[in-house]
Amino acid sequence: MTGCQTVFDPRAFDSVRVVLPTQFGEFDVTAVEVRPGLVYLALARGDLSDGAPVLTRVHSECLTGDALTSLRCDCGIQLRMALRRVAAEGRGVVLYATGHEGRGIGLLNKLRAYVEQDEGADTVDANLRLGLPVDDRSYTEAAHVLRELGVLSVRLLTNNPDKAHGLEAAGIAVERMEPLRTAAHVRNVGYLRTKEQRLGHGDTAGEELPGPVIPPEAVDLIGNVDPPLDRPYVVLKYAQTLDGRIATGGGDSKWISGEEERALSHALRAACDAIMVGIGTVLRDDCRLNVRLVPGASPLRVVLDSTLRTPSDALLFTGLDDGAASTLILTTERSTEADRSRVRDLGAGIRVLPEGPGGVDLKAGLQQLRAEGVRSLLVEGGAQVITSLLGAGLVDRIVVGTAPRIIGAGTEAVGDLGVLRVTDGIVLRNRSVHLTADDVVTAWDVG
Ligand SMILES: NC(=O)c1ccc[n+]([C@@H]2O[C@H](COP(=O)([O-])OP(=O)(O)OC[C@H]3O[C@@H](n4cnc5c(N)ncnc54)[C@H](OP(=O)(O)O)[C@@H]3O)[C@@H](O)[C@H]2O)c1
Repeated sequence: MTGCQTVFDPRAFDSVRVVLPTQFGEFDVTAVEVRPGLVYLALARGDLSDGAPVLTRVHSECLTGDALTSLRCDCGIQLRMALRRVAAEGRGVVLYATGHEGRGIGLLNKLRAYVEQDEGADTVDANLRLGLPVDDRSYTEAAHVLRELGVLSVRLLTNNPDKAHGLEAAGIAVERMEPLRTAAHVRNVGYLRTKEQRLGHGDTAGEELPGPVIPPEAVDLIGNVDPPLDRPYVVLKYAQTLDGRIATGGGDSKWISGEEERALSHALRAACDAIMVGIGTVLRDDCRLNVRLVPGASPLRVVLDSTLRTPSDALLFTGLDDGAASTLILTTERSTEADRSRVRDLGAGIRVLPEGPGGVDLKAGLQQLRAEGVRSLLVEGGAQVITSLLGAGLVDRIVVGTAPRIIGAGTEAVGDLGVLRVTDGIVLRNRSVHLTADDVVTAWDVG
């Protein structure tokens, strides 16, 4: 395959064919100007015209989700999943439908609809309040481009039955729909549920790649995210043995919980704006703190590190160049300027905050995160950070995976809180219980 060439188009649409290398591999791209100024891009792999149904995604353009990583929708993750699926199968097409922005109402109107949603409307009523159609997309042009590529029948990657009906009405046989489920974020779970309940979409959340099954309600374990003005809503999450240890005496914690519980933890990461641990966990576990076990967005990674002991080769500095989340280190005046530059040079952010008991002043740290737009924060440990946050009364929700394992003396999940009488202990409310293959996950409101 060679560079760019203009193709003779019998139907007088202007079109171009070119090879596009992507992070998912090389695709043959056919760009067709279906109307003046409106270009559809078909990213194809393999022979599409051999008669067998073609793995196909008709992806409605979403600038904010696809290119700018917006978490108001699941579009960007679905787009990348579709490209990955087609590349893995070696035959198929992702048809990028421009002009479908905001279900056909256009970018500006979509953003106006977001304003309505911020004032309480769901994604359907927001359009109606603006006097706009709920869904103004047509699939005629998509069907035309598919036919030009030799595609007559498809296995359609979508949760949306209307898309399948639209293509069928335009003459493309839909052999079956194959869902593209993503791990919900607390910022888009309302949108996903409205799509299910009011627009007839199939299950939009959950795992359908090979691997453990993620329950759609993973995001429900997080509870009702309603952050105060001076800090994020804080969710504490850890995995413990039945005797309450999060690691052995030597610090080993891999793996306390089973595969399904760990995938659930990744779904919780994907649901939050940021994830935070102490430097003790980074040094012991060299954790990446990203989302790998479910299809979802990786949150901002935050480390409490008073003196900047985070090593330059820590895994949480990796992936900064491939669309992964950023890393932010909360430190104090006790770190040196040389270490701050070292960490900045690795692409991470540094915030110098006052000192408090245990290291970084937690109230100042959480206030800083809130000021930077973090509304939901998942804290994954370790023991000292868990203890500091609970001691300071800064936890809203606690999610604990309890594994059927007893290890005796080791690292306790929670250290000394100065509680002398049981009745003075922290009270948990609103229990929610979820069973995974091996473990019991309980979630509670704190206080
Ligand atoms: N099972 C699980 O779910 C799970 C999850 C995470 C970790 N772990 C395990 O937990 C162990 C690590 O726990 P850890 O207690 O040693 O480390 P940690 O809680 O992750 O980190 C503690 C360190 O964070 C820094 N820090 C900064 N500000 C702090 C503050 N306000 N409060 C508390 N700490 C603050 C302090 O170091 P500086 O003074 O240098 O700033 C402190 O020594 C490892 O064995 C790990 O495997 C288990």
